[in-house]
Amino acid sequence: MQPKITAVARCADGDVGNISRIIVDPLSREISHVIVRERGGGVERQVPIGQVEAVPHEEEVRLRGSAEEFRRWPVLERHAYVTIDEVEIAHLEDHLCVEPGEILVPYPRLEQAVPRRRFFTNMTHAIGALMALPLAFPVVKYLMQPMYRPYDNTWFPVGNVRKVRKDNIGYQFKYTRGFKEAFMPEQRIEKNIWVVKATPAVRKAVYGGKDKTFHDDKGRVVWVNKANAPHIGFSGKCPHLGCGYKWRRTKNYPDGVFLCPCHLSIYDAAGKVLDGPAPRPLDVLPMQVSASGDVKIIDVEYKAGVKNQIRLL
Ligand code: FES
Repeated sequence: MQPKITAVARCADGDVGNISRIIVDPLSREISHVIVRERGGGVERQVPIGQVEAVPHEEEVRLRGSAEEFRRWPVLERHAYVTIDEVEIAHLEDHLCVEPGEILVPYPRLEQAVPRRRFFTNMTHAIGALMALPLAFPVVKYLMQPMYRPYDNTWFPVGNVRKVRKDNIGYQFKYTRGFKEAFMPEQRIEKNIWVVKATPAVRKAVYGGKDKTFHDDKGRVVWVNKANAPHIGFSGKCPHLGCGYKWRRTKNYPDGVFLCPCHLSIYDAAGKVLDGPAPRPLDVLPMQVSASGDVKIIDVEYKAGVKNQIRLL
């Protein structure tokens, strides 16, 4: 009779556990070991089939020796075996009737050499990668260049302040600039900024009485917006998620506000958030106005959706 998996394993001086699995010799297709899980869910010990004295019925397996001798049998090294679901052993079911439960067979010898074979495979890959590195480096560098290129602090002419006639009202200025993304050809993109001719109160709200300094990627100062300069330029991108916004008069704000149509963030003439999900005020750009009124800006871009200004371009 063959034991049922879950059968009680009993030594001469008492129960020691339950049969949890069996190991089968893949050639003879006979059981070579029974695995006994110690009482209380303890370790599993691997007991040779020769130690099985009797199987009085399928619910009980009698082992030779005492419980103390039983505990000297080795602990099952599960990684050294595969289940019979993973290997094909012809007619095995003709020899076994121990369902349900896990039936193990030793890991095929060929596969046991895998760590060694894997070592050689990995080494071959590593050598290949080293040889390819000089060729791959220029390509990778070229592709990644846009991620690491320094901030573009070019000044872009955007128009003339003569167009800005009234105080504390937003006037839109459009301009185009070229963008080159990795290996793609350069594209011309239309962008815009909003310029406000600010009264002292609005200037104070924007700058807090202090000049605003802009830096390059090395921390060097590239421009200072004077706190008393009347014209202020705001990036045309909403700091929430980057949509374009407009200057609008509304019922609640008859003097006008900047209104973003995407998620209805509202900003006053100083760029301060009055309503909506925007995490920070409108982004002030480095801007200079010549004696003749020509306006130039540096097209700084900050990360959208975050409280602090994180410069991207
Ligand atoms: S993008 Fe402007 S409010 Fe969401």
